[in-house]
Amino acid sequence: MKRSKIHIVVALLFVPIIGVAQNTPPDYFVANCFNCHGTDGRGHSTIPPLAGLTKPYIIEQIAAFKAGTRPATVMHQLSKGYTDDEIARAAAYFAAQKK
Ligand code: HEC
Repeated sequence: MKRSKIHIVVALLFVPIIGVAQNTPPDYFVANCFNCHGTDGRGHSTIPPLAGLTKPYIIEQIAAFKAGTRPATVMHQLSKGYTDDEIARAAAYFAAQKK
């Protein structure tokens, strides 16, 4: 009897966690992009917003920054600090944000 109560309590503990996961929060490192591109990539300065750009476009631009084929002030250095997988995840996140 006591045991099954514990199980129910443990099960309930996980409910809020599952709820948050369904909102797919951004990976921790995506917050670095917010510093310059604004919260959720919505822009707050002269730096271009990322929200609502397409995933392939973002991936392509980062690749161009990395390769040096697109001139940049900071992104050419910054983009080198992220793996392709991280860029793909960040791109998916920003593509899913409303402009
Ligand atoms: C230190 C500030 C800074 C940070 C941090 C930063 N960016 Fe940028 N980003 C810029 C600037 C400035 C530009 C314009 C190009 C340039 O001068 O480097 C830019 C341009 C871009 C563009 C091109 C946008 C367009 O409309 O063509 C993309 C895509 C981009 N950044 C993605 C990212 C991602 C993804 C991250 C996080 C991993 C990130 N940036 C973090 C400053 C930043």
